[in-house]
Amino acid sequence: MILLTGGAGFIGSNFVLDWFSQTDETIINLDKLTYAGNLQNLVSLNEDTRHVFVQGDIGDRERVSELIVQYRPRAVINMAAESHVDRSILGPETFIQTNIVGTFRLLEAVHDYWKTLDASSKKEFRFLHVSTDEVYGSLNKNAPAFTETHRYQPSSPYSASKASSDHLVNAYHRTFGLPTLITNCSNNYGPYQFPEKLIPLMITNALAGKPLPVYGDGKQIRDWLYVTDHCSALRRVLEAGEPGDIYNIGGWNEKPNIEIVRTICALLEELSGSPSNYSYLDLITHVKDRPGHDTRYAIDARKIERVLNWKPGETFETGIRKTVQWYLDHQEWVTNVKTGAYREWIEKNYSEQRS
Ligand code: NAD
Ligand code: DAU
Repeated sequence: MILLTGGAGFIGSNFVLDWFSQTDETIINLDKLTYAGNLQNLVSLNEDTRHVFVQGDIGDRERVSELIVQYRPRAVINMAAESHVDRSILGPETFIQTNIVGTFRLLEAVHDYWKTLDASSKKEFRFLHVSTDEVYGSLNKNAPAFTETHRYQPSSPYSASKASSDHLVNAYHRTFGLPTLITNCSNNYGPYQFPEKLIPLMITNALAGKPLPVYGDGKQIRDWLYVTDHCSALRRVLEAGEPGDIYNIGGWNEKPNIEIVRTICALLEELSGSPSNYSYLDLITHVKDRPGHDTRYAIDARKIERVLNWKPGETFETGIRKTVQWYLDHQEWVTNVKTGAYREWIEKNYSEQRS
């Protein structure tokens, strides 16, 4: 079995569902259930003994050790994190606690367990750390895409905390020989993404007739990957990645934010019709820019393609269409996640900081 952390979040719940479509191997899913964790995403597994959910914090060293000793996983996949850049600007503390201290304590618990294994199990064991392209910082317009050897130059408290966690993971490989793997992936999108992130925020705001808040001129570029392609890449890295190695994951889909927003407006009109007295495009509102906003990310995915023979299955055109359709079909899910706490966040981010 494997131990997955953060498996009730956006990528985590997609990963769990995707995993069981491929294999029957048990997942122990350790998640703190912060605002971003949602067990509704995994309701289809309620009666499924392959999925064992445990509510807990990766920073709770004793609890994590108990779990590892009890279940003896062959691998740990660490996805648990605070993941939203804007939240890290308004409140960095939890990012330091979970992404740095939490990863450190998880590594300690895993290392203690790994030391007790026999030589063959030690060799087979894997610690896969799920990280981000944001650790590399911002690219100029014509600069080559990020390779695995690109210098770390994080800009936000979020990306600095992820960079720190990557360094810790590398240190546990170099110093103690722990068989680690790190993946640095570009922007994901797809079902179950919390509507604080660009794509689900724009879809759900448009459907509610609310402004579509584009930061600055909207010309910043992100490199988009459909979430199940990230999941298949993670499975492949776990299966065949070389301990100590780093793999960039991306789908060669660079797009300016404003183009993403216009595409969403067009797809909504095509799939569910136009509002009667205005166009979704009329809702686009340019607001104050994100402080320290990275202007461009782009992943050079040649290593994972060449060494592990991995390729994404979706183009941006197919992935964004599926995503818009998913949000149209799951408006109850959206209503349920837009709790009081969600409304307070939207109020704080889009009123105080951006007025
Ligand atoms: P998310 O915010 O949707 O989910 C994070 C999950 O982690 C939630 O279920 C939350 O409850 C859980 N969690 C938070 N703190 C925890 C703690 N201390 N202990 C246990 N669980 C905790 O995030 P996501 O978008 O699914 O991202 C998952 C991982 O992938 C993160 O590590 C993120 O840095 C990385 N990543 C995300 C993207 C992206 O575009 N979303 C791209 C590349 C990498
Ligand atoms: O690159 C990978 C990263 O992608 C992950 O590590 C992060 O966890 C994930 O949140 C994401 O970070 P971004 O900051 O790129 O994603 P976000 O959806 O917040 O923003 C995408 C772009 O859209 C960014 O340039 C900011 C802009 N934006 C975002 C929001 C929420 C807007 O213009 N308006 C908005 O309201």
